[in-house]
Amino acid sequence: INVGIIYGGKSTEHEVSIRSAKSVFEALNKEKYNVRLIHITKQGEWLLAADNDSVKTLDSTNSTKLTVAPSQGLVADSSPVQLDSVLPILHGTAGEDGTIQGLLELADIPYAGCGVRSSAVCMDKDMTKRLLELKSIKVAPSIVLNYYEKDGQTFEHAEDKLGLPMFIKPVNQGSSVGVSKVSDEKTFYEALDAAFSFDTKVMIETGIDGREIEVSVLGNEELHVSMPGEIVSQTDFYSYSSKYLDENGALLNIPAEMDRDTMEKIQQTARETFRALDCEGMARVDVFLTPDGEVIVNEVNTLPGFTSISMYPKLLEASGVPYSETLDRLIELSLE
Ligand code: DAL
Ligand code: MG
Repeated sequence: INVGIIYGGKSTEHEVSIRSAKSVFEALNKEKYNVRLIHITKQGEWLLAADNDSVKTLDSTNSTKLTVAPSQGLVADSSPVQLDSVLPILHGTAGEDGTIQGLLELADIPYAGCGVRSSAVCMDKDMTKRLLELKSIKVAPSIVLNYYEKDGQTFEHAEDKLGLPMFIKPVNQGSSVGVSKVSDEKTFYEALDAAFSFDTKVMIETGIDGREIEVSVLGNEELHVSMPGEIVSQTDFYSYSSKYLDENGALLNIPAEMDRDTMEKIQQTARETFRALDCEGMARVDVFLTPDGEVIVNEVNTLPGFTSISMYPKLLEASGVPYSETLDRLIELSLE
């Protein structure tokens, strides 16, 4: 089976994607799969690795330029690259948001994970919330601002509606890029500017007092829902640096310590969330568990971090699905 790993991408999570792709590459069973490495540079150039020994940052000198043609798929040196399935290990915009999925659909190449619609919806924290609310799944109260509404928003109004602390985040980003925790007027306006530097739509959200719990979901018709894991931040919140830069930034507790009923309630919420958003293949559902046992969905990641220490594969491992089997399953699901 010819499996392509697409990684890198024109996203703020380019580096995270490379880390994820490295782990995915190492875990793939090479006896079963002929792996092709496809790197999208930060500038958006598509490159096919000349050798497939390791995931690396490619440039045009040690690789072949690829073009993507709707009828032929991926083309290198005017011949199509044979691919039976693609693992789009891309995080964030132009990767996790349905754009790559659309391209692969047009090129008729099967790919792992969510389709165009659910990828696009889950990338947009505002759309995600609206759909979850329709299914009575709890989400944090929020105000959403388009760039043309920014100047009309005051700290007083937001505080009145949402309380303190608040979180301000770009609507379409991952890995907490551009996210700030706000507790006063001064940081409020700085945080708005910071978030708007990444997106034209920004969300101001009530800071939920709760434990940060994540659940992995794998499957299409039948879902494998992992046991919940917990993020224990050592910093003010689970920020980009605590996720990827600071070794002591956060601890993952797998499984999260809680009673069976709470665990089942969280798993049920993850299942309902996956269905409400029409997800396919995989997603990591991130929730808050409040002190009085409420489960509030924070967000859904359709291409969750895939490094060997990332929550998504770790939770499945702890639930009895080793990393390489998760990849086997995702490839199988893509071919169904
Ligand atoms: N956006 C990062 C990769 C995650 O959700 O794990
Ligand atoms: Mg995310």
